[in-house]
Amino acid sequence: MPFIYITRAVPDAATNLLAGALPDARIEVNPEDRNLNREELIQAAAGCDALICTLADPVDASFIEDLGPRLKVIATYAVGYNNIDLEAARNRNIPVCNTPDVLTDATAEIAVGLILACARRFIEGDRLTRQGGFTGWAPLLHRGHGVYGKTVGIVGAGRIGKHVAATLKHGFDCEILYHSRADHVDWENDLGAKLVELGELLERSDFVSLHCPLTPDTRHLIDADMLKRMKPTAILVNTARGPVVDEAALVAALTNKRIAGAGFDVYENEPALTPGLGELDNTVLLPHIGSATFETRDEMGRMCARAVIAVLTGKEPENRVV
Ligand code: DGY
Repeated sequence: MPFIYITRAVPDAATNLLAGALPDARIEVNPEDRNLNREELIQAAAGCDALICTLADPVDASFIEDLGPRLKVIATYAVGYNNIDLEAARNRNIPVCNTPDVLTDATAEIAVGLILACARRFIEGDRLTRQGGFTGWAPLLHRGHGVYGKTVGIVGAGRIGKHVAATLKHGFDCEILYHSRADHVDWENDLGAKLVELGELLERSDFVSLHCPLTPDTRHLIDADMLKRMKPTAILVNTARGPVVDEAALVAALTNKRIAGAGFDVYENEPALTPGLGELDNTVLLPHIGSATFETRDEMGRMCARAVIAVLTGKEPENRVV
């Protein structure tokens, strides 16, 4: 009887699919409304044949080892897999599968939403209205920055970055700059986007949106020096991974009005906020909800389930990272 352990409650779409395809399986789901720590996870999941984990679980070499010799597949309920030691999994021939594509639209919506919310100061305006500060229409009341026709810098030329760029190009006639290791002819043809160095992108953009994976090369890619290169009117949006930004430097830049604002969905020490970040008015802070639509979260669950079913029935899984 295969044992499948799921580290957080997932939509029924996933567990129903697993139970239907693997009627003999023992499917256990963390019953608590919190992430378990390493020891708790090992205790709960040791001996499993399949692990469905989230981006909050530290799936490193010793964790993989401690899960035991039966482990045959790791399916992560995320597109990003920086929390998983791929080398350790590869060494044991354990496929690691993720959930790309299905969350592209949802995450792009959050990135564009953060740009609009920061530029037009939605949250501050909501607070002002609720607190009785809206005493009547006035020409100088609560002005923000327009988005239409502005320059947007996209860091990382993957699916989500392209979707954000396309939305801002087609919906807001923005000029698109992008920074990536390679040029993308499709971006240039479809969006008139220009590939530039990171420094130039930061100097020219009114909005900078981060879409690169977290790797040793991108950790603190946006540090104090890079923040200094941004326009004082610019807004930085991060829906990628928190450690791409040096958040202590960001808090200093926002406090000193070196940049105008920031919209973040991910954090350097998630879920903790870097001291000072939560006290600033010129930020919009979301609880890592890029992929959190009903439709997307169902489909992410089905993808994880399909990966587990494939491996446990001797087939090649889809969306295999290693
Ligand atoms: C991911 O999938 O990597 C997102 O950060 C969460 O859905």
